[in-house]
Amino acid sequence: MLKKENKTILTGDRPTGPLHLGHYVGSLKNRVELQDKYNTFVLIADVQALTDNVQDPSKVHDNILEVMLDYFAVGIDPHKTNIVLQSQIPEIAELTVYYLNLVTLARLKRNPTVKEEMKQKNFGANVPAGFLMYPVSQAADITAFGAHLVPVGDDQLPMIEQTREIVKKFNNVYGKVLIEPRALLSNASRLNGIDGKSKMRKSLGNAIYLKDSNNEIARKVMQMYTDPKHIRVQDRGRVEGNVVFEYLDIFDPRKKEIAELKKQYKNGGLGDVILKKRLIEVLEELLGPIRKRRKEVEKDKAQVVKIIKQGTQSGREVAAETLKKVRKSMMLYDF
Ligand code: TRP
Repeated sequence: MLKKENKTILTGDRPTGPLHLGHYVGSLKNRVELQDKYNTFVLIADVQALTDNVQDPSKVHDNILEVMLDYFAVGIDPHKTNIVLQSQIPEIAELTVYYLNLVTLARLKRNPTVKEEMKQKNFGANVPAGFLMYPVSQAADITAFGAHLVPVGDDQLPMIEQTREIVKKFNNVYGKVLIEPRALLSNASRLNGIDGKSKMRKSLGNAIYLKDSNNEIARKVMQMYTDPKHIRVQDRGRVEGNVVFEYLDIFDPRKKEIAELKKQYKNGGLGDVILKKRLIEVLEELLGPIRKRRKEVEKDKAQVVKIIKQGTQSGREVAAETLKKVRKSMMLYDF
């Protein structure tokens, strides 16, 4: 199909859990808009997910469908976006092997996102080699599909940087074969979790999922961190760091009313519960239709599987073309 811009974009997710509001504001919403403009690939990175879920293959397996359902629910359209499954594209694995010669161990250890993750996961001295080198396999993901642009949040910038280094080195040594990708930084900064302590993340238990029921949303909003010193309604409250206001700023389109509510809150006389009820309604307006669409799509899982199969097949053709050029430039035999 012909798109306005003759450029390719690629994004990806590790299938380790259902997608949440943080994914929505940070990336999914953007993808739905971009799919009209660009040739779009979305990669379900199950091989990458296994780098730190060795003991849990069923988690990775089961979440592939979950993530697919979330995609359709938010409006990713299989007619516009190629959804591909990483483990079904052996070309990516082969590219990874070649690229591994173009990075040093020291460079891998310097990747700030990987460093941060290693700390969180308490690997100590026992870092799985596959985990340390996953940015190289991510470079293979990106280059296999010839992506020009990679829409990401800032935590993924080091991956794009490392990919660019690998591409430059490759093109330098073997001839100009690979496309040097650029990051397309989403301007939404990442959403805080309901605890207000850190960004929304499944592993921290502070997430609102796209598939949460209305009751679950209400329960979570009611637990949301506000201002611990705002005890009685008449107390003066703080807006900064108050998660309810952070969310209202993002999700409630009635900006004038929000400005008014902030004023009242700061002066004292506005209770948390009123604000939380408003937020529950606002989130329901967004998530209600998403949940409904998810339920619809869920009825026909066979169709979902068919879509990922087709997407993967056409993705694989592109990856095979890339690999052919790569092998040729590396003077590998072609029997
Ligand atoms: N590393 C990404 C994440 O954890 C997922 C991912 C895998 C990805 N391959 C990719 C993102 C290629 C962009 C491009 O979210």
